[in-house]
Amino acid sequence: MRIFSGIQPTGTKHLGNYIGAIQQFVTHQDRGEALYCIVDLHAITVAYDPRELRRSVYDLTALLIAAGLDPARCMLFRQSGVPQHAELCWLLCSVTELGRLQRMHQFRDKSVAQRELVSAGLLVYPVLQAADVLAYRAHEVPVGEDQREHLELMRDVARRFNQRFGDGEEVLVVPEHRIPEIGARIMDLQDPTRKMSTTSSSVEGTVYVLDEPDAISKKFRRAVTDSGSEIVRSPEKPGVSNLIEILAVARQVSPEQVEADMASARGYGDLKVATAEAVSEMLAPVRERYVELRADEQRLEAILREGAQRAIEIAADTLADVRDVMGLGPGAKRRERSVP
Ligand code: AMP
Ligand code: TRP
Repeated sequence: MRIFSGIQPTGTKHLGNYIGAIQQFVTHQDRGEALYCIVDLHAITVAYDPRELRRSVYDLTALLIAAGLDPARCMLFRQSGVPQHAELCWLLCSVTELGRLQRMHQFRDKSVAQRELVSAGLLVYPVLQAADVLAYRAHEVPVGEDQREHLELMRDVARRFNQRFGDGEEVLVVPEHRIPEIGARIMDLQDPTRKMSTTSSSVEGTVYVLDEPDAISKKFRRAVTDSGSEIVRSPEKPGVSNLIEILAVARQVSPEQVEADMASARGYGDLKVATAEAVSEMLAPVRERYVELRADEQRLEAILREGAQRAIEIAADTLADVRDVMGLGPGAKRRERSVP
């Protein structure tokens, strides 16, 4: 079983990223061969500062290790350190429908939000994401709910590639997404009808992984809740439902258990205090380890380099097959195969 996921280096990582993705990365590293990629090539599809980008890759590397990724048990690397991602992206463009890319939600949202250039890279973004996963013939992709559309496109691209070039063979693996049952969509504390996000939500409504306990408790204390006082999940109570899910994840219990534990609470105030405490406790060790790890950039670079070297071995093998079936290059591999 091979697992792959990617995460953008830019933007301060928040509780949604932590619960929806990073925690899953940590759990999955023991379920098989896991590859985690810091997607700097995706980050350049919108306006950015080159120096800041390089720094943010180290920030995220330190954060991921602080959260529990172990370079001895997974491959952690920079996307631009493995040239096969960009190459496969180009090759997959030939089996990707343009109209489909133009209709992707993220492309529509981000192109409207861009004040300067809407780059071609923004349109091709999902093809690069498909290449990320397909280059490793990964079976599973742990991500949050917002990546569903990208995963569907990726599966279609893999299927279409196999149909067009596979000659009955599965040259590329059609991957499955792994979206967590609880916490796949953590909502903004100030506006629980919107997802917590780096770009579109408020600082007051967003809990960052590196926030101090004081900041965390302030944000939860001011969280927007709903009318009534019953602590149960329901579509009419998006604020309370969000807090219940967060508390369940932080305490590692089910949301039903949280509802039962909170049955005798005096009101939403108790729920907010309990959630703030549990989240602070969950994030404090991450923050402490982060400070220590971030100080040693050379070590972080060595980890990324080693991860990339191991990743290249796998990706190069896939690319050799892909080039071969597409009729690119002399086709040595195919000839070898057909010799009895
Ligand atoms: P990004 O920082 O945009 O690269 O996102 C990294 C991962 O975090 C992706 O797997 C997203 O699906 C996940 N994610 C982002 N926002 C949320 C959220 N509000 N709730 C749960 N997961 C999220
Ligand atoms: N687009 C993803 C996000 O914004 C990041 C990403 C890039 C990714 N490549 C990937 C996620 C491959 C899963 C698999 O979160």
